[in-house]
Amino acid sequence: MTDKNIILTGFMGCGKTMTSNKLASMLKRSVVSTDSLIERKENRSIEAIFKESGEAYFRKVEKDAVREAANLKSYIVDCGGGVILVPENMAMLKKNGIIFYLKASVETIMNNIQGQANRPLLNVADPKAKVAELLKARERSYEYADYIINADGCSVDSMANDIIKVLNNE
Ligand code: S3P
Repeated sequence: MTDKNIILTGFMGCGKTMTSNKLASMLKRSVVSTDSLIERKENRSIEAIFKESGEAYFRKVEKDAVREAANLKSYIVDCGGGVILVPENMAMLKKNGIIFYLKASVETIMNNIQGQANRPLLNVADPKAKVAELLKARERSYEYADYIINADGCSVDSMANDIIKVLNNE
């Protein structure tokens, strides 16, 4: 099995965090999330950062978090959904990592985020239209990943197993 970092990307609500945790316990590796690195460093929540300092500031601190995560060894890295927006982020992660895109449809995403109010970008009158718009705009960047894992109708266990199968053939 590779000793590279295992990088999980994908839209909000595609299952990155649960799949990262599952992989961490199956592979006995540590997991780090870019969002939690940011929250720890800023000592405030992602929501508060967006609200008080705006998205541009968030993207700046997100880049620092990506750099920190990319320099780790043999970690599972759970990336915030917008990490792929910055090509430099992807280049840093790719250097010592294998990048997976957990690809979910608008319907799957809407189902998964039901009742969750902690995502500033989706805190709008019509979240479904916003998900569709952002997903369309980001799709090509997500597909920069080394591997695409289908998330529609898939449990966390099956996504983790799909990723392990790929890693075993690397
Ligand atoms: C974002 C995704 C969020 C978080 C922030 C912005 C995005 O992470 O980083 O709200 O731009 O897609 P999750 O994908 O873990 O929800």
